[in-house]
Amino acid sequence: MSWMGFLCHPVWAVSTALLAVVVRLQRRGRWDPQASDVQLKGKTAIVTGANTGIGKFIALDFARRGARVILACRSEARGTGALQEIREKSGNSDVHLRLVDLSSLDSVREFAKRILEEEKALHILVNNAGVSGLPRQITEDGFDVCFATNHLGPFLLTNLLLDLMKRSSPARIVTVSSVNHKKGRVDFAHFHGENLTYYMDHVYNHTKLHNTICTNELARRLQGTGVTANSVHPGIVMTEVMRHYPLVIRCLFKLIGFFFFKSPEEGAVSPIYCAVAEETEGITGKYFDSDCSLALPAPLARDTALAVKDFEICERLTSKL
Ligand SMILES: NC(=O)c1ccc[n+]([C@@H]2O[C@H](COP(=O)([O-])OP(=O)(O)OC[C@H]3O[C@@H](n4cnc5c(N)ncnc54)[C@H](OP(=O)(O)O)[C@@H]3O)[C@@H](O)[C@H]2O)c1
Repeated sequence: MSWMGFLCHPVWAVSTALLAVVVRLQRRGRWDPQASDVQLKGKTAIVTGANTGIGKFIALDFARRGARVILACRSEARGTGALQEIREKSGNSDVHLRLVDLSSLDSVREFAKRILEEEKALHILVNNAGVSGLPRQITEDGFDVCFATNHLGPFLLTNLLLDLMKRSSPARIVTVSSVNHKKGRVDFAHFHGENLTYYMDHVYNHTKLHNTICTNELARRLQGTGVTANSVHPGIVMTEVMRHYPLVIRCLFKLIGFFFFKSPEEGAVSPIYCAVAEETEGITGKYFDSDCSLALPAPLARDTALAVKDFEICERLTSKL
């Protein structure tokens, strides 16, 4: 039988369809945001990378719950499109666009300065923006662009907004990491683009490991302040996250994803759970899986001595000399 004949064979087609149904039923998760009546009236939330993918649905959920929502996006055109859509769908006009390029520390500082000038409180910060598959590129600050966007920019942003969040407590910081952090390694030369292999998701995996390590250390430092910090895996989600990969990989992702992966709305569920659910109130320093269950992160993300070192190095790298 030819390959085409095999692929079109009814047995193969029916078993794929059945498998897809089972996967769909399984990935529903343990928590339904639409069944949760948590209200966010009077609360302020920032979602980075809110113009598309998972971030857009996180921001839409917060807006529907009545929060003042700040979409932290790098593109004015893409951000404005999302802003209009979220205002329309939620009926909440207290949704605003603020521009930030997380790969640039100056841009992050400018963004944070404006937030501190304009906002009286900040109850939720979702570090969602991220990139994968970029070729080697060193930023104006001297960092690998994927490390700057996924880790050092959000790290600085979080630290600059911490005092405001402490004054607004109870408050929650949610960092969208990935199960791929388990494939990451720690080598502090990576930050500067050294010892890195620019192949598929290799660099991305390291950045996601630093997300989880530093979130755990942040949570330890925040004990007693009323501000919690957790990291979360959203699942494998059909978004634009593969946009920098070769065409053939993107096509494969779309083909397999059509049957098996989550929609962006489904991918937003576990981050929303960490950010708003009553069940997660007070939980801090944990890693949540895509079905909203608590999960053990990789051994490196449970190494407290490494976390202290990593956090201190990131503080040094992001401090203005
Ligand atoms: N999709 C998955 O399967 C998956 C799995 C595990 C974890 N995640 C994580 O989920 C998060 C959201 O990803 P997604 O899947 O929704 O991907 P996406 O559709 O590509 O969205 C990524 C968002 O990040 C923004 N962004 C990228 N670089 C930025 C920069 N320098 N400054 C500010 N914003 C920037 C993008 O803005 P532009 O549109 O302007 O580029 C976009 O809004 C990421 O942290 C990702 O690592 C995703």
